[in-house]
Amino acid sequence: MCGIVGYVGPRQATPILLEGLQRLEYRGYDSAGVAVQNGHGLGVVKLAGRVAGLRHRLEAEPLPGTSGIAHTRWATHGAPTERNAHPHLDCHGRVALVHNGIIENAGALRAALARAGHQFVTDTDTETLVHLIEDAPGATLEARVNAALDHVEGTYGLAVISADEPGKLVAARRGSPVLLGIGEDEFFVASDASAVLAHTRSVVYLTDGDIAVLTPSAYHVIDRASHVQPRAVDELAWDLEGIELGGYPHFMLKEICGQPETVRSTMRGRLLFDEGSARLNGLNLTPGAAAAIKRIVIVACGTSWHAGLVGRHAIEQLAQIPVEVEQASEYRYRPKLQGPDAVTIAISQSGETADTLEAMRAAKRAGSRVLGVVNVVGSSIAREADGGIYLHAGPEIGVASTKAFTSQVVALVMLALHLGRQRGLPVETGRALVCRLAQLPGLVARTLALEPQVKALAQRYGSAGNFLYLGRGVSHAVALEGALKLKEISYIHAEGYAAAEMKHGPIALVDEHLPIVFVAPKDEVYQKVLSNLAEVHARGGDITAVTTEGDDELGALVQHRLSVPATTSLLSPVLTVIPLQLLAYHIAVARGCDVDRPRNLAKSVTVE
Ligand code: AGP
Repeated sequence: MCGIVGYVGPRQATPILLEGLQRLEYRGYDSAGVAVQNGHGLGVVKLAGRVAGLRHRLEAEPLPGTSGIAHTRWATHGAPTERNAHPHLDCHGRVALVHNGIIENAGALRAALARAGHQFVTDTDTETLVHLIEDAPGATLEARVNAALDHVEGTYGLAVISADEPGKLVAARRGSPVLLGIGEDEFFVASDASAVLAHTRSVVYLTDGDIAVLTPSAYHVIDRASHVQPRAVDELAWDLEGIELGGYPHFMLKEICGQPETVRSTMRGRLLFDEGSARLNGLNLTPGAAAAIKRIVIVACGTSWHAGLVGRHAIEQLAQIPVEVEQASEYRYRPKLQGPDAVTIAISQSGETADTLEAMRAAKRAGSRVLGVVNVVGSSIAREADGGIYLHAGPEIGVASTKAFTSQVVALVMLALHLGRQRGLPVETGRALVCRLAQLPGLVARTLALEPQVKALAQRYGSAGNFLYLGRGVSHAVALEGALKLKEISYIHAEGYAAAEMKHGPIALVDEHLPIVFVAPKDEVYQKVLSNLAEVHARGGDITAVTTEGDDELGALVQHRLSVPATTSLLSPVLTVIPLQLLAYHIAVARGCDVDRPRNLAKSVTVE
């Protein structure tokens, strides 16, 4: 999941491409590179490492020219070296290409092209594309790109320029996101909107099979049969402020601290106090269809999957519909034992996660109605679902997802309420929950006040080698999420586990050197959790408990407690997760980790 950017227009391309890459760096940061048409050929500068390094290199080796392409990489095929960095050139250096995706038949293509005399200089799958274009028939670059793509299996979002057609840029999409930025006498190509927002709010989302041709004076989109395709121009809802640090040291901390507002934004205009329900018009689900649902299958990955686990509790409790929560990467290769009687919900912050997208497509092919719970407007999952819920949490830049999780939980509880009220849930129950939802932003703000306490704990546990997070019911999902956050950004091995499962094995790990975090709000399983806590305490466990303000039953069982305000159990994850987000953040900062760009990760996983 790399980031690609392209520009054609009257201005110098390099500064625009660099700024776009900087905004896309959360998509991958193994290497970066630029290629610019300079009137007598192509100038290319690339290196292993960050965009900042490329900016520095370009100060020494400027690349003049008013059209170009650029790339920031998350390595899949070929080590993250300068040699494997994009853009890639053909044998004569006349065509340059950047690519996001995986060419699955690269091995066979490479062998055939090498037999035909092409010289390969990288270990990447992508390089086969530029040699295919070099070989392809056609009078124009777009015709050659189109012909070359006939041979390609796999996914791509790509941009290409040629020294022989100055001022022209060709982009193509299959499986990886590509949008066009429509400016005044200038046009942009990018993997997502954050790269063009500083220049325009008007964007065109390409769909699979599209090829776009951009010149300084115009752009058009054709399909693989070279027929011109009309494409809508959408207006972006968010602003630059949303993708700026705004005085915070890291996007992750900004996004954690912004949760009172993002949770409020997810609920805005959706809470119906009198009806005791939630208005979710985007679902496109008639009351009859809602009442007829027999089964729900949730598909998601990572943090979104954890939110799905909370969603299951809410939907089963409020709407009495059986729910399965599936890891999309596993689910997509299992037989689809569901049809029109089941609704499939794809949860994804980015809306571009390949496994979740493909799992949703597979469910759709099996006849299931598919809904998306998505943050990024205009993303593939949002556009391909039959209906859905936008989180309206604003752009999430930090690779470690935080505000998306709390907004996903709120959205799923509102969905459960919406379905429940159409399936006999009493209005009083609905009204009580709506009141609890409305109180959340204030409770989130109060919970954030725990930061100094959490920071002190982070100092204490920053050098730990392992961590264990435990919880039951909805708090099991929070334990999994807390462990994932710590793993992702501090590189400490951490495990989330169902508290009652401890005695079936993992309790063997307990000793005074293993920090253990219990997620133990006062809910219907609290007494059970207390027994699990006592079992761990009895073996000398070093316990930190996230519990409810005023809890006086923990006593000496725990070394540290982080008390969050009381709320109903289905909403408790929105509060109990916050000290865990902060703990991971402050431990990572204390260990000198790059919090927003954790190693080996990327924000949106658009490859399998
Ligand atoms: C979470 O912090 C990670 N970035 C990752 O697990 C993420 O949740 C997962 O890749 C799913 O992403 P999505 O919500 O955009 O589909």
